[in-house]
Amino acid sequence: MSQPHSFDLTGRTAFVSGTSRGLGERFALTLAKAGADLIISSRTLASLKDMEKQVTDLGRKCLSVELDVRSMDSITAAVATAKSQVEKIDILVNNAGCNVRKPATEITWDDWNLVVDTNLRGTFFVAQQVAKEFMIPAGYGRIINIGSVTCVAGYAGLAPYGASRGGVKQMTMSLAHDWGKDGITVNVLAPGWFKTSQNRVMYEDAGWVEYLTERIPLGRPGAMDDLEGPLLFLAAEESRYVTGQLLLVDGGISVGATRALPKK
Ligand SMILES: NC(=O)c1ccc[n+]([C@@H]2O[C@H](COP(=O)([O-])OP(=O)(O)OC[C@H]3O[C@@H](n4cnc5c(N)ncnc54)[C@H](OP(=O)(O)O)[C@@H]3O)[C@@H](O)[C@H]2O)c1
Repeated sequence: MSQPHSFDLTGRTAFVSGTSRGLGERFALTLAKAGADLIISSRTLASLKDMEKQVTDLGRKCLSVELDVRSMDSITAAVATAKSQVEKIDILVNNAGCNVRKPATEITWDDWNLVVDTNLRGTFFVAQQVAKEFMIPAGYGRIINIGSVTCVAGYAGLAPYGASRGGVKQMTMSLAHDWGKDGITVNVLAPGWFKTSQNRVMYEDAGWVEYLTERIPLGRPGAMDDLEGPLLFLAAEESRYVTGQLLLVDGGISVGATRALPKK
């Protein structure tokens, strides 16, 4: 008889990038509550102190590493530090990311590089190093690349961000092929619109929130709790036969128009 589904992560070790605030902080705590030991990261180690205490207060081990995903040296150093201190990384959540919101005509070369280098190139090279150093030799891994509703939909003012997220979706499908035979699944968890520092200004605009809410079939913007179950599913043993997939957690905003067509 098969085991009951538990999404229990006891004995697993998870590496989450960008855990100093926002979704990354919540992802890390969710995995720790489910039993995983953690490696947390930020460009500034000092910003992880509180988070580290929250994880260890839950009875889990926690290693903080400095990581700038725009630097290959920083990625290899972070993975080397992890290698010197932990035996394995079973779960990787590639969460570090940024955005520049501007009309397409005002996007600069540097804006483009910042967003695409962080969200797409950074996601790839962190996955590459963790897979190479930990998951492939172990024959096991769960890689969860954070995407967005922009993986599948276009929004004005988000050209570099949309390009990076579309790239994450396509890259994830390739990596699922690359590493499937190594026991590694690679999927995208794609949140809709959540209130974090990255899009605080949008939530300060009541008109925009009303516009957004009207277009979400489930009738409200995302709450942090909404991401926990989908994250645990992709992180757990139970998702063993799911790879290369995009899991949108967006209240349905990506499905298209929500207003009924006029009669006749
Ligand atoms: N909020 C949403 O509604 C939403 C929706 C879809 C997707 N997302 C994606 O989800 C992720 C988290 O978003 P959020 O809203 O929580 O954003 P946030 O509050 O701005 O946090 C971003 C995190 O990424 C880290 N980061 C940024 N640039 C980095 C770099 N070069 N190297 C390493 N870490 C870096 C930051 O860490 P430090 O500054 O401490 O280094 C921070 O912990 C992002 O990838 C975002 O694009 C968010």
